[in-house]
Parts: sequence; C-alpha cells; structure tokens
Amino acid sequence: MDLAADTAEQYRDFALDARDYSPCYDDWCTRVADDAEVLAWLDRLPLPKRQPNLVLAAARWHGVPAPGPYDAFRSALLADDGTIVATIRARSTQTNEVGRLATLVPAFALVADRPVALIEVGASAGLNLFPDRYSYAWGGRTIGSGPLLTASVSGDPPLPAAVPSVAWRAGVDLNPLDVTDDDAMRWLSFLVWPEHEERRARLATAVAIARSAPPVLVRGNLLDELPALVATAAAHGPVVVFHSAVAVYLPPEDRDRFQALMTGLVAEGRCHWVSNEAASVLPEVTASGPVPSDARGFVLGIDGRAVALTHGHGAWLRWL
Ligand SMILES: C[S@@+](CC[C@H](N)C(=O)[O-])C[C@H]1O[C@@H](n2cnc3c(N)ncnc32)[C@H](O)[C@@H]1O
Repeated sequence: MDLAADTAEQYRDFALDARDYSPCYDDWCTRVADDAEVLAWLDRLPLPKRQPNLVLAAARWHGVPAPGPYDAFRSALLADDGTIVATIRARSTQTNEVGRLATLVPAFALVADRPVALIEVGASAGLNLFPDRYSYAWGGRTIGSGPLLTASVSGDPPLPAAVPSVAWRAGVDLNPLDVTDDDAMRWLSFLVWPEHEERRARLATAVAIARSAPPVLVRGNLLDELPALVATAAAHGPVVVFHSAVAVYLPPEDRDRFQALMTGLVAEGRCHWVSNEAASVLPEVTASGPVPSDARGFVLGIDGRAVALTHGHGAWLRWL
C-alpha cells in the first residue's frame, strides 16, 4: 500500500489485499475507487488519514455494520456530521497483529541462539513483544507451549527447534497503546477486518498475555529513540530490533534515514535487524533477494537481506 498514492488507487490496491480474504472490504474498497462522491469526501482529509484501514474502522466504530452493504458505509460517510471525521483525525492505523509472530519467530531464532533483548519499533500496544508466550505450527512442525500461532510454509525455511527466549523487551511508538486501556484495545478490535473472527479471538488472547506483564513502550519517533534503546538493551543479551507494517508510515526521506540507521547499527555489531514490510517500502532490502516484482504481502529481511515473503497477517511464510 502506497500512502502517497492517489486515493482511488489506494482503495483499489487495498481491495486486492482483501480479495478472497475479506469479501466486505474487497467490495467496499472496489466501489469506493469508482465512487466520485466518496472519493471527494476522502480527499478533504489530510493525506495520511485517507487510508482505507483507518476510514473503514472509523465508520464501523460509529455503527456501520460490517459485513454489510456498501450503501450503508457510503451513506454514513456522506451524511457524517463530523463524528466519523473526528475519529479518523484522532486515531490511527495501529493494527497489532500477533499472527505475524508465526513468520517472525524463524528469523528471531536464526539471529541468536541465546535469550535476546527484543526491541520492536512501531510496537502499537507491544503485543508482538511476547513471542516466547506462544506455540507455533508450521506445516508438520509444532514447537512451544501457549496459544497456537500457525503459518503455512514453503521454500524450506530453517524452522527453529524451540521458541526463542526473551531476556528483555521494549518497544517504541509514536502513540503507544496501553494494554490496560479498554477503549484503546476496543479500537484495535475494530482494526481487525470484518469477517476475521479468528483474528479477533487472537487479539483478545494477546491482550490478556500482555496485560499479565505490560511491556515497556517508549513514546516517540523510532528514528530518535532507537539508538538509546539499543544501548540500553545491550546489557541484557543479543539485541534484535524488529518491525512489521511500520516503515510504510514513514515519509520517503525518513525511510531512507531508517534504512541507513539500521544498516549502520548492524554494521557496528550493535544489533540484528528483522524487517517485515511491503516490497516497495525498503527497496534496498527487497533488491537484496529474489523477490518477484509483483510480490504481495511483506518481505522478511534479516540484517538488511531479504530471506522470505510473508502474509500481511502471518498466514504464510515463503522462504526465498
Ligand atoms: C500498523 S501498526 C503495526 C504494529 C505492529 N508492528 C504489528 O505488526 O502488529 C504501525 C505502528 O507504527 C507506529 N509508527 C508509525 N510511524 C512511526 C514512527 N515514526 N515512530 C514510531 N512509531 C511509528 C504507529 O503508531 C503504529 O502503532
């Protein structure tokens, strides 16, 4: 998803991501892309606020039924008295998807064979900071104990024999969400796509796990906060910095700064870097491996090198 793309193109692209996955969002976004009145309504919002996931969640937050007819969604936007717009302006896309751990854990295990100091940049509520609290199933291989996260695998990934141990964990986010805040957790549930009951149940489980030991989350821009956090983490074990569906929210010049920051930290041996972003977002990582030009989903990178393609919510892992 290109957040700077023309609005119709953004919605058409989002509909492709939702195809055969969320019929409701596929239908709504396909129709938005051809609906001049709704596009004009969206174009009155600031650019970063036009993105489908945010607008769709805000409409549902204010009672638009989903799954449900496009006309109800359309009417709610066009008749909005400012209530939906206020939610769009006040909140953001902070989808916190622990399903992604099923695709991240093989990378965590590859970079360190002892308990890690884990830093997540763009952590949202920090739900992905607890990889050690789940079990994992990849095809016939199952490891760990705790709630099960599953990904189908192809391309012979090096799957770990045990769940990585975490010695220390912390995150950074522009707007860290407090796992004990019911309103914030309810917003996260509205960011889960309409038909995805399994994901909503997984979210509830993840919130309960994080509530048992709320993670340390630093408020701030990852570019500013990361170096100090890496220095702090180093006392606790091999440092692993990771992120998933985050760099897309950085303006292009900040993406370049982030790529340079991470490349420098890795070169200095100060941390390992596990990235999980859409192919167009970190072009240097994408160009380092045989990533097909029409790849959807995310590119999983280790220390700047593309190693796999992953499903956006963790349903599959294709090792390159
Ligand atoms: C889509 S969420 C992904 C959350 C989590 N990484 C996951 O995979 O479940 C993106 C998160 O990145 C955060 N974010 C965006 N730009 C950021 C920045 N410059 N610095 C820190 N956090 C940022 C947002 O606030 C949001 O919580």
